[in-house]
Amino acid sequence: TVLDLDYRPMFWESPDEAGRWAGEALEHATVAVGNLAECEVAVGESDPVKAARALLDRGVRLAVVKRGPDGVLAVAADGRTAEAPPVPVEVVNGLGAGDAFGGALCHGLLAGWDLPRVIGFANRAGAIVASRLACSAAMPTPAEMAEPAVTP
Ligand SMILES: Nc1ncnc2c1ncn2[C@@H]1O[C@H](COP(=O)(O)OP(=O)(O)O)[C@@H](O)[C@H]1O
Ligand SMILES: [Mg+2]
Repeated sequence: TVLDLDYRPMFWESPDEAGRWAGEALEHATVAVGNLAECEVAVGESDPVKAARALLDRGVRLAVVKRGPDGVLAVAADGRTAEAPPVPVEVVNGLGAGDAFGGALCHGLLAGWDLPRVIGFANRAGAIVASRLACSAAMPTPAEMAEPAVTP
């Protein structure tokens, strides 16, 4: 069960209220994924390593922390750690990047890939969508994923 900690302030009375429900949802999740602001709301930590640790303390088996332009950190309950460096792209529209990331993450996990490959793949999918104008229609195909994300 993969939980995207996705936080939209306009839907909540307060960050505390959102955090309480995120905490409740985390108890049912095997994988948690969120950016630093979302980790802060869910577990009160915005340092990547501390946030991953706090998510694991809530019982998930894999914590994936999206660090925006600084790449991605993933830490598993069994101690495996992987980092993906940022993929340099010219951002056209960030909408949908997180969805591309999440879909690609699920695909990699279901395929049984190792952790560096899974988060590298997700990171690249997010960057590709950020570099395009459209959102759902901009999701990369497997063929596009095999190509370098940055076109010279
Ligand atoms: N400026 C960027 N440069 C490179 N990759 C990016 C950029 N913006 C987003 N991404 C990719 O997309 C992912 C999702 O971004 P994020 O901002 O967390 O999405 P959302 O807010 O839609 O959930 C990032 O973790 C990264 O992999
Ligand atoms: Mg999101």
